Amino acid sequence: MNPHRSKSAPAMALAVAIIVPALLILAARPGTGQEKAGAAAPPSRVGQQGTAESHDRTNFPLTGKHRTLACRECHINLVFEGTPTDCEVCHWQRRQDDRYSLRLGARCADCHTPQSWKKVDPAFWSHETNVGYKLEGIHRTLDCEACHGSAGFTARSPDCLSCHESDYRGTREPNHVEAGFPTTCPSCHSQRSWSDASFAHTGFLRQGRHASAACSDCHKNGVFQGTPSECVSCHLADYNSTTDPNHRTAGFPLDCSACHGTAATGWSGANFDHAFPIQSGRHAVACSECHQTSDFRVFNCLGCHEKPTTDSHHTGVTGYSYNSQACYACHPQGSGGGPAARPAEAPAAGR
Ligand code: HEC
Ligand code: HEC
Ligand code: HEC
Ligand code: HEC
Ligand code: HEC
Ligand code: HEC
Ligand code: HEC
Ligand code: HEC
Ligand code: HEC
Ligand code: HEC
Ligand code: HEC
Ligand code: HEC
Repeated sequence: MNPHRSKSAPAMALAVAIIVPALLILAARPGTGQEKAGAAAPPSRVGQQGTAESHDRTNFPLTGKHRTLACRECHINLVFEGTPTDCEVCHWQRRQDDRYSLRLGARCADCHTPQSWKKVDPAFWSHETNVGYKLEGIHRTLDCEACHGSAGFTARSPDCLSCHESDYRGTREPNHVEAGFPTTCPSCHSQRSWSDASFAHTGFLRQGRHASAACSDCHKNGVFQGTPSECVSCHLADYNSTTDPNHRTAGFPLDCSACHGTAATGWSGANFDHAFPIQSGRHAVACSECHQTSDFRVFNCLGCHEKPTTDSHHTGVTGYSYNSQACYACHPQGSGGGPAARPAEAPAAGR
């Protein structure tokens, strides 16, 4: 794979109009006008008197670190003509500056600017665009050698396991081998840290309060397989310890989700499908007012609706009888008088 971007180096772009320099320097130089920065020129006072500013008008403006250098660092023996403009000539042929010995390519300017070797602008070169493998999280902070070794930039397998197998085998909390975890680390891990695992459950379990629960709250002792998903298998103790209302004596069904839903953040505010309206109005009273035994299929209306008064409301109502089932049958909404309470829908009379 070729890691280089196929774009022309900034330094190369500068080599478009290569005609100006000598004149320019003459113009920029104060005093002695007769000397020339010419071919095979001997050490020249002209050059020494020039400035970084006057250099801006050559084809090689001095930027970054270059601007602070003494002229003779580049113009060896203060020979000006024929000074190379190609980074590689100065930084590799003259001086072996490349830490990677050309293994990333000889065209330094594809990836670097004279600001600093350390900072490679991602617009010039990035692992993602040039290699097709994005370095994220902790990987971004690593030295290239951490993954590539010192031998060279040969392709490595991008598979996490190829570099992290011993980490996988060495896990204790939880022991991945025993837990039977797949070796596809990204199913649960990012490249940030091993300690913020997440797992895409397909069921309801990661909603509400469950979303913030730690893996080990549900998967005790690192056992993942066979975790039950029925509410009561994890919440039986909660059920047994209820007092208001006491679920056990009340005989509440064990499917908590019927009343508590599947995304609750707490136990309060249970919302169950109670056909008889008890959320507001006259009948928003304690459960035990109607459910006087532990069996919630049984209810009693008569405690509040005394016989004499109730009977008096029903003079001439066919099918009326003074019993709770009958009341509910004619008054399923606990409201009076309307079509819902018509005798046609009433059960057989009797007490
Ligand atoms: C980082 C390296 C570098 C430094 C530092 C530098 N130069 Fe240069 N200079 C060059 C390069 C490269 C060229 C060739 C530009 C071209 O080919 O157009 C050049 C060209 C010149 C020329 C024109 C030579 C010609 O062919 O006519 C003069 C004069 C010159 N520099 C003067 C100076 C002076 C004076 C200084 C110090 C203030 C200086 N340079 C510092 C790299 C440098
Ligand atoms: C294909 C892109 C590419 C090319 C071409 C390239 N480099 Fe680099 N170079 C890099 C990257 C990437 C780094 C690592 C930067 C990092 O550690 O984040 C680097 C690091 C360096 C460093 C070490 C910086 C430090 O101290 O950490 C030096 C020095 C360097 N390059 C010099 C050169 C020279 C000289 C050339 C040309 C002969 C060159 N490079 C060509 C991409 C390149
Ligand atoms: C004419 C020779 C010459 C050319 C051409 C040249 N450089 Fe330099 N550059 C130097 C010299 C000399 C230094 C000072 C080296 C030192 O002191 O370590 C320097 C310094 C640097 C530094 C700072 C190194 C540090 O230690 O901080 C960077 C980065 C750099 N050059 C990048 C480039 C790039 C990129 C190019 C091509 C666009 C380039 N240079 C072209 C001569 C040149
Ligand atoms: C976390 C590990 C890791 C780090 C750190 C890393 N690389 Fe890589 N590198 C890879 C992997 C994996 C591949 C192969 C990607 C692929 O083929 O899909 C690769 C491929 C490359 C290639 C292409 C090699 C080829 O022949 O195809 C280059 C060049 C390269 N990396 C340069 C670098 C440089 C420069 C750095 C430092 C700035 C670096 N890498 C840091 C993992 C890493
Ligand atoms: C080419 C080798 C390589 C590949 C591929 C690779 N890593 Fe890494 N990874 C490393 C190196 C080297 C380190 C730093 C040393 C260490 O902590 O093991 C590291 C560190 C980590 C860390 C930080 C560990 C810590 O101690 O905090 C995590 C998390 C991580 N990698 C996750 C992943 C994941 C997830 C994948 C797959 C998407 C992956 N790695 C692919 C080489 C690799
Ligand atoms: C099914 C999910 C899952 C998969 C797949 C998975 N892990 Fe983990 N991993 C976890 C959980 C859960 C933890 C405990 C940390 C936490 O709760 O965030 C953990 C913790 C770790 C730890 C730190 C704990 C220790 O005992 O050292 C390492 C290292 C680790 N995993 C490596 C890996 C590697 C390497 C892979 C892939 C080869 C991998 N894991 C695949 C879920 C997973
Ligand atoms: C609120 C309880 C709960 C929490 C918290 C929880 N899980 Fe689970 N998990 C379950 C239940 C229930 C199942 C079985 C049903 C299913 O697969 O959805 C399960 C199944 C799994 C499985 C599949 C096991 C198999 O059968 O192969 C894995 C792997 C897993 N969980 C990993 C995790 C990881 C990793 C975390 C933490 C990031 C986590 N779980 C947090 C309840 C939980
Ligand atoms: C695999 C075990 C597991 C299953 C199955 C499970 N839960 Fe949980 N649940 C937890 C854990 C762990 C917590 C957080 C710790 C705690 O508060 O007990 C929790 C918390 C809750 C809370 C918040 C309790 C509080 O104190 O704030 C509610 C409400 C809840 N679960 C309802 C349900 C419902 C409804 C179901 C069935 C649809 C269910 N859970 C199934 C393990 C489970
Ligand atoms: C028939 C409906 C219903 C079912 C089924 C049900 N609950 Fe409740 N639960 C309620 C109601 C109503 C409340 C009171 C809500 C409030 O105070 O806002 C309640 C409150 C609670 C409380 C807090 C009250 C206390 O005394 O601690 C807990 C804990 C609780 N339920 C656990 C469970 C568990 C565990 C299950 C399943 C095993 C379950 N519930 C099934 C209706 C139900
Ligand atoms: C004003 C009377 C009244 C009150 C108060 C009342 N209920 Fe009911 N309940 C009924 C009636 C009537 C039915 C039968 C119709 C229906 O399912 O809504 C019933 C049915 C039920 C059932 C269904 C039993 C079954 O499986 O058939 C449950 C569970 C229940 N109630 C729980 C409660 C709880 C919990 C409370 C307190 C929060 C409560 N009820 C308050 C009248 C009442
Ligand atoms: C806790 C006491 C209490 C219980 C138990 C009770 N009710 Fe009521 N009900 C009232 C009160 C108070 C009123 C308003 C005064 C009245 O009309 O007697 C009322 C009014 C009504 C009305 C007339 C509503 C209207 O629109 O004027 C109907 C119908 C009714 N209840 C039916 C029922 C049925 C059916 C049951 C049993 C499932 C029931 N009640 C259980 C206290 C209760
Ligand atoms: C056969 C059907 C039937 C039965 C059984 C029945 N009701 Fe009624 N109830 C009615 C009708 C119809 C009316 C309206 C009578 C009218 O407006 O003259 C009514 C009126 C009422 C009213 C007065 C409502 C108002 O608007 O003032 C109350 C309270 C009431 N019923 C409660 C009960 C109670 C409590 C029971 C059980 C003991 C019961 N009913 C049994 C059909 C029935």
